[in-house]
Amino acid sequence: MLTIEKYQKEFVTYLESYSVSKEPYNLYNPIQYILSLGGKRLRPVLTLMAAEIFNCDYKKALDAALSIEVFHNFSLVHDDIMDDAPLRRGKQTVHEKWDVNTGILSGDAMLIMAYQLFENYDTSTFQALAKLFSKTALEVCEGQQYDVDFETRNDVTILEYLKMIEYKTAVLVGAAMKMGAIVANTSQEDQNNIYAFGKNLGIAFQLQDDYLDAFGDPKTFGKQVGGDIIENKKTYLYLKALEFSNETDKLELSQLFNSNPEDVATKINVVKQFFESTGSADATKQAIQEYTNKAFLGLESLNISEDKKELLKTFGNSLMNRTV
Ligand code: IPE
Ligand code: IPE
Ligand code: MG
Ligand code: MG
Ligand code: MG
Repeated sequence: MLTIEKYQKEFVTYLESYSVSKEPYNLYNPIQYILSLGGKRLRPVLTLMAAEIFNCDYKKALDAALSIEVFHNFSLVHDDIMDDAPLRRGKQTVHEKWDVNTGILSGDAMLIMAYQLFENYDTSTFQALAKLFSKTALEVCEGQQYDVDFETRNDVTILEYLKMIEYKTAVLVGAAMKMGAIVANTSQEDQNNIYAFGKNLGIAFQLQDDYLDAFGDPKTFGKQVGGDIIENKKTYLYLKALEFSNETDKLELSQLFNSNPEDVATKINVVKQFFESTGSADATKQAIQEYTNKAFLGLESLNISEDKKELLKTFGNSLMNRTV
């Protein structure tokens, strides 16, 4: 096994060799732009690690890893349109730098390019990868639709929220790992266990994303801090703040989340104070820890050596403590 940093480096080198600079430039330049903006590359790294954990050379999993990263970036281009987001990885979002139509079509092309990368595998691997990919991609769409539907609903429950983030985010993290396991041709049982690990880690990851969206440092976060509050996203932070509030605060908070004021800075500040004073910020931190632990507990059923489990735990802990 390599170190996490080394997998990341190997992946980025491979990504750089995947040039998409061609005509029509208004279709491909935005793709080149978003793919080269950086990002943590955590999903492809998980694919490569999963392959090696199941005793396969990570190089065989590079195309699957690239497919996952291209799909992820596609989903970000469309997500930024849907969330009206100005910033991504510290730079202008595609629809801001170009326009919405460009974001839609370049995104569509990326989804197709993601599928195309499976053509580099033999028939049975291709089939298994494509099957998992299609199921996962549809779930991501379902999760994204719930996320948008919840913006205008006032009766969203924690359970509904958890299902929404499982679909929009966690299944892709699970699938990233399972793809590595598929390329490694490991048993169905191992495939399912590594998928479950990735999925629980993915839930913790999205909870942390929601936390950082409110409390991240604008200098390092790379996205608009407070974006979820502006968009009335029904996050764990919000739902727990409501749950922990008295009737007066509950009314004020829910009224804020049924409004779209010009003065977004005041809205963001007031809401963040609620998140802290009600204890919902702490409850979110705790939930992040719980889902990370749940992922780690699931590792016990995997037929792999202790040092491989340790590497996965190191990775999980680094996600929990990230600021980006
Ligand atoms: C952002 O994912 C979208 C979520 C599912 C929260 P990442 O935080 O992995 O984004 P990058 O690729 O590192 O920029
Ligand atoms: C994104 O969720 C999930 C997908 C892109 C499918 P968010 O909307 O929270 O992601 P960010 O915060 O914009 O990265
Ligand atoms: Mg978003
Ligand atoms: Mg979104
Ligand atoms: Mg977010």
